[in-house]
Amino acid sequence: MPSWPEKHTYIGAHTRRIDGPAKVSGTARYTSDVQPSGWLYGMILRSKWPKATITSINLEKARKLPGIKAAILVRDCPRTVRYYGEELAAVAGTSKQACLDALRSIEVEARPLPFVVHEEDAKDEGSPRVWDKVANLSKPRLDEHGDVDKAFAECAAVVEGFFTTPVQIHNCLETHGNTISWTEEGLTAWSSTQGITSVRDGLAGNLDVPQSQVRVISEYMGGGFGSKFGPGVEGAVAARLSKEAKAPVKLMLPRFDEALAVGNRPSSFQQLKLGATAEGKLHAFQMDNYGTAGIGSGGVTEGGGGGAEIRMPYIYHVPNIRVRQSGVNVDAGSARAFRAPGHPPASFGMESIMDELAVKLNLDPLELRLRNDPSEVRRKEYRLGAERFGWTEKYRKPGSSPGPIKTGVGCAGATWGGGGHGTHAEAQINPDSSIEFRCGTQDLGTGTYTLIAVVAADLLGLKPEQITVRIGDTRYPPSGGSGGSTTAASVSPAIYDVCMNALQQLQERSSITDARGPNWAAACKKLGVEPLIVSGRWQRGLSSSGAGGVQFAEVRVDTETGFVKVKKITCIQDGGMFVNELTAESQVNGGILMGMGYALYEGRVMDRTSGVVLNPNFETYKLTGLADTPEIDVVLLDMPERGVIGIGEPVTIPTAAAIANAVANALGVRVSSLPITPAKVLAALGKVKPVA
Ligand code: MOS
Repeated sequence: MPSWPEKHTYIGAHTRRIDGPAKVSGTARYTSDVQPSGWLYGMILRSKWPKATITSINLEKARKLPGIKAAILVRDCPRTVRYYGEELAAVAGTSKQACLDALRSIEVEARPLPFVVHEEDAKDEGSPRVWDKVANLSKPRLDEHGDVDKAFAECAAVVEGFFTTPVQIHNCLETHGNTISWTEEGLTAWSSTQGITSVRDGLAGNLDVPQSQVRVISEYMGGGFGSKFGPGVEGAVAARLSKEAKAPVKLMLPRFDEALAVGNRPSSFQQLKLGATAEGKLHAFQMDNYGTAGIGSGGVTEGGGGGAEIRMPYIYHVPNIRVRQSGVNVDAGSARAFRAPGHPPASFGMESIMDELAVKLNLDPLELRLRNDPSEVRRKEYRLGAERFGWTEKYRKPGSSPGPIKTGVGCAGATWGGGGHGTHAEAQINPDSSIEFRCGTQDLGTGTYTLIAVVAADLLGLKPEQITVRIGDTRYPPSGGSGGSTTAASVSPAIYDVCMNALQQLQERSSITDARGPNWAAACKKLGVEPLIVSGRWQRGLSSSGAGGVQFAEVRVDTETGFVKVKKITCIQDGGMFVNELTAESQVNGGILMGMGYALYEGRVMDRTSGVVLNPNFETYKLTGLADTPEIDVVLLDMPERGVIGIGEPVTIPTAAAIANAVANALGVRVSSLPITPAKVLAALGKVKPVA
């Protein structure tokens, strides 16, 4: 079994991004920067009806407009659209204005149909059905063990509550989109994606082109969070426009469309009941939950409400459980994977009811966790975090903070996989001692370029800036999608293998026993005129899975305005062997800011009467901003013996729960619905009427 060397120069250190200068100077090429000769703008016409039979779409006027080179239907008519924003037609033209004019000239005839966009409405039998043949509300899936009713009767303390989380929109800072050139020789797509391979396979499948004739490139991209694994309708449309126009087409979605049609995190409506023994041991748990994945997960097959399940009871082991979950379809865009799918809503519900139980048992909530968390690593993290955060000094009985501006603290934990999978890589070593690594993975902005340079430099005794890294091209040796926090754990072992093979082959070719570091240039020189090309692949032993973490939150709540200010978050996160602590900490920072958005600001708002999304932009859909950013204290719990484990997802899981608990601790009453807006805080304090 291979293993990482014990002594490191760069692995585990803080290494700045090797692509930092390219990014800040604007030379880094993102999808929208690509300008193949003769390229056109592409644009999509979307449904303004939440549900309708589209009887005809007339593209003739659009086709005749100056500058318009292609106009296509997304699907043939008649057809049914099932949400506001569903794709109808698309055009390609020489300017944005030409495309806008063309979209306006398209005549669409439609028969509006009854629709439903709110979960609470959709689950009633009398509501319009999203899919004709199936009820909106799926049959609950039951997960039960133990004798739950008997167990609750045995409990010394039982608490109940209703917890809700909204539909969250990914809102990647770079929108979805592609620049696609489709000629007789094949198809090249510059794609904003977290899976160049899955986009290649998706395009090949959708357009009936051999995979070998599809090349997908993603040199730089600005976030995916689970929403960018496939080419999407917009990818297939860009390709078809390119074919018809005989020119490359750049189709980047406007911000508006991101709220409608490219995925979201399902909502949850959790009725929870939790009971414990007098010793504070969890004994019985019950949940009834429903949530919506829009018209259905993926939106391809007829719904039945799936895709909204959450993982309960989160983290803790409870001997007697009854969990019933259903999905409810509404006329809205489909859900997609979203950073730690199923975990943040579960963490919010579970950790909230845990704190309620602690109050009832008259226990410190941290103590309740230490008595019940089955993970030894997480219990250690709780103790370490409590000390750094100053939990004992800061924790007060709920609502006992004096004055109109109240402070409070809360904590929560998370679990995730983060293991690796098959990845190939190669390196070309040149006689001039330069070295270039090639791997068909991609960098979502998380630091994959730097990760490869760090691993290679460490193992070869070079400096990271001596390593050239080429990724984001399906012509390179294959890797997989960047999902499930698997990139670091997939790529690092493949680079390790390349390096080991390189050192061995260099030794054979140069007769220099150890080609590393000071001997590198001499060994390379001995190659003569022929570069050495070495390959390698992921293998077991260098990565594992199972990353956990805990977070502590300190908040200040203004009981007169209802505003919540997060003062501080402390995060203790384990993740095996950290390859680059700097970019790992950046992952934590980003996860916490995203979790704060989930806690306090975010949530898709649908209008019941018109069926439209009311907040499809950054003015009305608020993300965490610089002014909201708290002090963030990060401790990475290094466990080198476990190999590389990814942490992109776990670090966003417990933030909202910790903040919600801190708000409840400050106020002495709980806001059990995310996001925790000022209106909800004031309503919880009885100062205003609750908003519907
Ligand atoms: Mo992740 S939600 O697997 O990108």
